[in-house]
Amino acid sequence: MTSFTTFLLTLLALFSLSFSAPILRRDVFVPPILYPRSDTVWIAGQHHNVTWSTDNAPVNITNSIGQGFDILDGRVEIQVPYVTTGSNYSLVLFGDSGNYSPEFTILSQ
Ligand SMILES: *[C@@H]1O[C@H](CO)[C@@H](O)[C@H](O)[C@H]1NC(C)=O
Ligand SMILES: *[C@@H]1O[C@H](CO)[C@@H](O)[C@H](O)[C@H]1NC(C)=O
Ligand SMILES: *[C@@H]1O[C@H](CO)[C@@H](O)[C@H](O)[C@H]1NC(C)=O
Repeated sequence: MTSFTTFLLTLLALFSLSFSAPILRRDVFVPPILYPRSDTVWIAGQHHNVTWSTDNAPVNITNSIGQGFDILDGRVEIQVPYVTTGSNYSLVLFGDSGNYSPEFTILSQ
C-alpha cells in the first residue's frame, strides 16, 4: 500500500474553461472540497455527498460536466469504496489540476 493512500473515486470532472475576450485563453477552476473534512469518518459502502465550493466558478465553463456530474452542482453522491481501514484517505477532484480534500478516515466493514 502506498503511503498517501489516495483513492481516486473516479471523480473526474474534466472541466476546462475558456474566456473569449480579449484573447482566447484557458483558465483553471480549482474548487475547494468542503466535505469530507479532516474529522470525517466514513464507513465502506456508505453513500455520502462530496461537496465543494463553486464560489469562484468563472462565468463560462466550456465543459462543466465531466464524469456524470456537473462541477457547478457543488456536490456529488458517491459510494465509499470497500477499502481497508485507514485515517489518511483523501479525495481528489480532477480538473486541469488535482484538488485534494484533507485526509480523513474510512472504516472497513
Ligand atoms: C496511511 O495509513 C496506512 C494504514 O494505516 C499507513 O500504513 C501509512 O503509513 C499511512 N501513511 C501516511 C502518510 O500517514
Ligand atoms: C461568456 O460567453 C458568452 C457567450 O459566448 C459571451 O458573450 C461572454 O462574453 C462570455 N463571458 C466571459 C466572461 O468570457
Ligand atoms: C445528497 O444530496 C442530495 C441533494 O441534497 C440529497 O437528496 C441526498 O439524499 C444526499 N445523499 C446523501 C447520501 O446524503
